[in-house]
Amino acid sequence: MALTGAGISAESGIPTFRGTDGIWNKLKPEELADFGAFLRNPELVSEWYKHRRQVTRVAKPNGAHLALVEMATLFPIFAVITQNIDNLHERAGSETVIELHGNIERNYCLGCGKRYDGEEFDKNGSFKCNECGGLIRPDIVWFGEMLPTDQWNAAEAAASEADIMFVVGTSAVVYPAANLPMTVKRNSGKIVEINTEETPLSEFADVSIQGPASEVLSEIVNGIKEFRRDAKK
Ligand code: APR
Repeated sequence: MALTGAGISAESGIPTFRGTDGIWNKLKPEELADFGAFLRNPELVSEWYKHRRQVTRVAKPNGAHLALVEMATLFPIFAVITQNIDNLHERAGSETVIELHGNIERNYCLGCGKRYDGEEFDKNGSFKCNECGGLIRPDIVWFGEMLPTDQWNAAEAAASEADIMFVVGTSAVVYPAANLPMTVKRNSGKIVEINTEETPLSEFADVSIQGPASEVLSEIVNGIKEFRRDAKK
């Protein structure tokens, strides 16, 4: 399995949150990425997510997303658990994607629950529901909110049975997602961290590889295929 964070989309041109040019260095999460901020200023928060949808739509899945698609063909069971809301794993072709923090292309009305996909929402041009006038919010997990139970339970189950988890492009500081590698280790699975920098997880990883996710993951996939070819000889 893979657990991915914003770093896997960095090479697609989507800014991370905590890196040197991270989003949270310029903008305040408490003003944009929590429910209180949305109720205080629905216009600002809706505009920000509309902007982020424009950024993610022009972005393309990069070599790292594609390597995970190919890696899934090399194992009988392979799940991608992502903290990202950018929809790039789905667009790359990953079949089993567990979205811990939601998906920026999904929105719903707080009043009547009507769902709005991203394109429809942006065309609607307003954060007011055209059915009931209620506020439309993105279907993503804001700070302080619970993760979707079905997604979290699926992630925990996958982590408890995993032989190996590739932890790719996450600073491993946001919980409960950051607990998942420990669940793998507690169940005798192996952790391979892929990141351009050290993280709090690095000392616990069985292998910690520093480098850009697209290069490292492609090399790992090629290495597995080569190993399998040699084993057949
Ligand atoms: N290849 C691999 N790793 C990279 C690359 C790259 N090309 N570029 C950056 N990274 C690493 C950074 O070193 C950093 O450790 O990706 C990580 C990104 O960390 P964050 O910006 O903190 O993103 P993430 O870990 O996904 O944040 C978790 O926090 O803001 C919330 O909900 C948001 O899902 C997000 C959560």
